Amino acid sequence: MVKSPENLRHDGLRSWVADMVDLCTPDAVHWCDGSDDEYDLLTHELVNAGTFIRLNHELRPDSFLARSDPSDVARVEDRTFICSRTKQLAGPTNNWMDPAEMKGKLGELFDGCMQGRTMYVIPFSMGPIGSPIAQIGVEITDSAYVAVNMKIMTRMGAAVLDALGADGAFVPCMHTVGAPLGPGDVDVQWPCNPDVKYIVHFPEERSIWSYGSGYGGNALLGKKCLALRIASTMGRDEGWLAEHMLIMGVTDPGGEKTYLGAAFPSACGKTNFAMIEPPAAFADEGWKVTTVGDDIAWIKPAADGSLYAINPEAGYFGVAPGTSMSTNPSAMASIRANTIFTNVALTDDGDVWWEGLDGDTPDHLIDWKGEDWTPDADRKAAHPNARFTAPAHQNPVIDDKWDDPAGVPISAFIFGGRRSGTMPLVHQSFNWAHGVYLAATMGSETTAAAFGEQGVVRRDPFAMLPFAGYHMADYFNHWLSFGRNIANPPRIFGVNWFRTDEDGKFVWPGFGENMRVLEWIVNRARGRSYGLESPIGWMPRHSDLNWDGLEDFAEADFLQAMSLDRSDWDREILSHDELFIRLNDRIPKEMLAIKDLTLSALWRSPEHWEMNPDPT
Ligand code: GTP
Ligand code: SPV
Ligand code: MN
Repeated sequence: MVKSPENLRHDGLRSWVADMVDLCTPDAVHWCDGSDDEYDLLTHELVNAGTFIRLNHELRPDSFLARSDPSDVARVEDRTFICSRTKQLAGPTNNWMDPAEMKGKLGELFDGCMQGRTMYVIPFSMGPIGSPIAQIGVEITDSAYVAVNMKIMTRMGAAVLDALGADGAFVPCMHTVGAPLGPGDVDVQWPCNPDVKYIVHFPEERSIWSYGSGYGGNALLGKKCLALRIASTMGRDEGWLAEHMLIMGVTDPGGEKTYLGAAFPSACGKTNFAMIEPPAAFADEGWKVTTVGDDIAWIKPAADGSLYAINPEAGYFGVAPGTSMSTNPSAMASIRANTIFTNVALTDDGDVWWEGLDGDTPDHLIDWKGEDWTPDADRKAAHPNARFTAPAHQNPVIDDKWDDPAGVPISAFIFGGRRSGTMPLVHQSFNWAHGVYLAATMGSETTAAAFGEQGVVRRDPFAMLPFAGYHMADYFNHWLSFGRNIANPPRIFGVNWFRTDEDGKFVWPGFGENMRVLEWIVNRARGRSYGLESPIGWMPRHSDLNWDGLEDFAEADFLQAMSLDRSDWDREILSHDELFIRLNDRIPKEMLAIKDLTLSALWRSPEHWEMNPDPT
């Protein structure tokens, strides 16, 4: 017998849950109400089960550390499937399997999968409850770790059932760690299935089935699965955008606020940029940056033809390594309490540690695998994809409209990959279609956020390669046609914080100093700063950026960060072509035309191949 909540009025939800109980055969069913008491109860149970370690209450109040199975540390892109009706609809950049065949497979895998465990039913809203841009999902999971993370990352619980009413639409999200317990079996600290993983989306029926992993985007199904893969398909059908973007507000010294969306691939600096602390010279002048979101943006055209964006999430699932008072003080403030840490190291006094944290490296730690660690150890103490889960409202620079159901008006989009060469620090596309080209051809070096080889450049269109729920070329088409119907399309920019010199050192100081580039972008979006025409777009000259307070970055360094090299760009264009050939069945004609135009611009004047953005 399943005892359902008193405010459940939705028969469709009730009968779906009953069917899933029959399929998964859990020992118990727990409908999450989203209350603080429930969070306390579940975290207590997770401590007793050995999944959570309670951190020192003085140093890190009401916070916990979880250590995952060493085989379950990141999203598994090669096990992620878009099971649309045909393979062509999913496109060549997604894994596909026939939906009927996949359902057969999932039916077998999920049969009895929750034996010996509790099934949690988690109603959640992506976006402020009741927002015209928000969507409701219901995740069924056998992981209490997922339930408590969903409490932080989404608006979760009883209020969502009220909003759903008797016949509201919801996205059903099935999740299991894939580790049933037989009678007498003793549970492990991080149950998962080391051998079998499936992260599956059925875009036509808008449902999600995830098997075998308890980590991040594999398991917190509101995030990548619903808010990007399913939502991108909804957006295509309904005329809106679901993007892998942070949203930030930039207030200038005149008090005018400009909102922008910025798409960087996983672990390429969205959280850092979303919370950027302007250098003193900028803060003194009155520049201020506030965070609307750090990972996902849902964007809809308003009646007046402008664009409004919401952050569908309510928390940050951020990369811990590299986060410090010098790189991201607002993230540090966001995680001071009420935070779940996964795969970071534990200090002897019960606090957390990771590579890149401020201060001296402790003499002794327990590493992310639970083993003793000293600074002479030849391995990292925290996993490179270790993460924190923290409530957004703890961010001291949260935007006052971050929770506004109407969203915020967007004036510019920024796209930025991790490129050690080729791509300049900043450039602006000539127009919307050219901006779509810039975003579509974005390349980035792969990071620890996904399982697999690291540091190889791959095309990551719109930072959405792992997240587009349909054919990538159709996605380009959707962006192109979307732009045709907007009154004043946001200006589109490319950035690259990651260029390195011959010694492999970053050329650009990055982090707070990115404000210098951001100022130029905001001014350009408002039509008030100079841009030099280069073959790939408009670029600032050295004299167009404010250099106050950055004494040790010479003009020559700027020119190095901005330079365009002819042979690099020959290779770059060839690589765009490789992508277009792969997408050939549906590639928009604009992409090919702009590629040819770019080529001809690059051929314009041979003596300009060492592109000098400051001819004066
Ligand atoms: P997901 O949550 O995976 O989608 O990623 P994200 O884009 O939010 O990544 P995050 O902001 O957590 O990026 C973390 C990594 O980017 C760390 O390795 C940082 O050190 C690095 N990073 C962020 N900003 C900069 C920068 O301006 N310069 C340099 N060199 N590195 C940066
Ligand atoms: C990403 O990989 O882009 C993330 C982390 O934001 S996860 O939720 O695990 O996908
Ligand atoms: Mn992300």
